[in-house]
Amino acid sequence: MRKREKIVDVLRSTEVGREVFVEGWVRTKRGNKSVNFIALNDGSTVKNVQVVAECTNFDEELLKNITTGASIAVEGTLVESPASGQSVEIQANNITVYGTCDSTYPLQKKGHTLEFLREIAHLRPRTNTFGAVFRIRHAMAFAIHKFFNDHGFFYWHTPLITASDAEGAGAMFSVSTLDKENPPLGEDGKVDYNEDFFGRHTNLTVSGQLEGELGAMALGQIYTFGPTFRAENSNTPRHLAEFWMIEPEMAFMDIEDNMDLAEEFLKYLVQYALDNCADDLAFLEKMYDNELTERLRFVVSNDFVRLDYTEGIRILMESGVKFDYPVSWGLDLQSEHERYLVEQHFKRPVILTGYPKEIKAFYMKQNDDGKTVRAMDVLFPKIGEIIGGSEREADYNKLLTRMNEMGVPAEAMSWYLDTRKFGSAPHSGFGLGFERLILFITGMANIRDVIPFPRTPKNAEF
Ligand code: 4AD
Ligand code: MG
Repeated sequence: MRKREKIVDVLRSTEVGREVFVEGWVRTKRGNKSVNFIALNDGSTVKNVQVVAECTNFDEELLKNITTGASIAVEGTLVESPASGQSVEIQANNITVYGTCDSTYPLQKKGHTLEFLREIAHLRPRTNTFGAVFRIRHAMAFAIHKFFNDHGFFYWHTPLITASDAEGAGAMFSVSTLDKENPPLGEDGKVDYNEDFFGRHTNLTVSGQLEGELGAMALGQIYTFGPTFRAENSNTPRHLAEFWMIEPEMAFMDIEDNMDLAEEFLKYLVQYALDNCADDLAFLEKMYDNELTERLRFVVSNDFVRLDYTEGIRILMESGVKFDYPVSWGLDLQSEHERYLVEQHFKRPVILTGYPKEIKAFYMKQNDDGKTVRAMDVLFPKIGEIIGGSEREADYNKLLTRMNEMGVPAEAMSWYLDTRKFGSAPHSGFGLGFERLILFITGMANIRDVIPFPRTPKNAEF
C-alpha cells in the first residue's frame, strides 16, 4: 500500500493534481444522491480534510458504512477546493472502511458538555477540543525539554516511590505489598513494615525536589519532569491527585536568579505555544475564551511584578474587599487573594516572596529577620499559583534546627543533610505544575480537561 500522508501536511500542500493517501476517522458525512462530502480527521491537526466521493464511483454499501466515527482510508487526487476555509480537498478514487461505527457512538455531530466528555475520557481525544488541548500539551512538554537543554540543564530522574515523607507538601499515598486484610503485626500491635516489600514504609512522591537537590549539588543545574502524587481531598478545578511537575534546581543561584529563571522560562513556554500551536489556540479561542491569545501575548510582553509578602498583605487589607478568608499577616494566601493581586490590583503576573516561615517548608532559606523565608510563588491570571519555589537553606545548623522545630526526622534524612555538610553551596529551585501551565495556555477552566485521564478524589476511571 502507499505511504500514508498526514492530513496536516496534505492541507498545507499546494501541489494540486497529485495522488494522495490518507487514513483517519470520519467526523461528518453529508451530500446527496450524486456526491458525498466526508470530513476526515487523523489527529494531526484540528482541521479536517474534505473528501469528495462521486456516488457512481462507489458501492452503495460502502458509502453507507462511512458514518461519523468510522475509520477509513482514502486514495485520491488533490484538487483545489471551491469551499471556503480550505484551499485543497481530495477527490476520492478508492475508499476502504477499516472500522465501522454505529449510531451508539457517543460523539455524534451535536456538541457535548465538557462534563459529559469527562465521562467518556477514552473517546474524548477524538473531539476537536481535546485534540487541540492534547497537541498543545505535547508541544509544551517538548518545549520544556528544549528550554532546559538549550540552557545547559541535565534531565535528572528522581524516584516515584520514596521513604521520605518530609516535604510536607500534602498527604501521601502509601505503597505496600502487605496483605491489607491481614498485615503482619509487631510486638506493639502496629503493622510491621519490616515485612513489607522495601523493608520499610514507603509512599508515592509528592515532589522530586529533595533528590533534585542532590543532582544540582553535583551536576550544577538539573531539572526533573515527572508525575507527582498528593492525596489531599481537594476537589477543586486546579487540583489533581496525580499531576506532572517540572522542578529545576540550580547550584550557585540565589532567590533573584531563581525569579529571573522562572520568568524567562514561563515567557519562553507561552511564546513557544503562540509560535507553534496557532491552529489549536485559534480553535480554543473561538470556542471557549475570546481573550486567550491576548492574555498569552500580554504575559510575554510585560515584566512580572515582584512583591514582598508583607506588602501583598497590606494591599489586600487596604483593598476593602470582603474575602471568604480574612486577611492578616501570617495567612497562607488562598486563591481568591492571589487572584485579587494579579487580576484586580496589578493586572499582571506577580512573584510573591518573603513568606512567613510558619507556612512554608523546612528547607527554605531563612531571612535575617527570623520571621520570613526566601520563598517565591508565581501567581498567574485565572490560575493563581502556577509555580512554587525558593532559595534553599544552605547552612547545616540552621537547617537542622528548623527540621527539629518542624518535626522533620533528621536522622532518616541524613542523606539530605549531607549536601549541607559536604561542600554546601547556595542553591535554588522551583516547581511548575504542568497541568496549571496547560490550563493557562489553553484557557480551559478545569484541570480535569487538560490531562488525558485525570485522577481526583473518588475517580480513577480508565
Ligand atoms: O508549591 P508546591 O507544593 O512546591 C513543591 O512541591 C516544591 N517541592 C517545588 C520546588 O521548589 N521544587 O508545588 C509546585 C507546583 C504548584 O505551584 C502548582 O503549580 C503545582 O505544583 N501543584 C499542583 N498541580 C495540580 N494539582 C495539585 N494537587 C498540585 N499541587 C501543586
Ligand atoms: Mg506551593
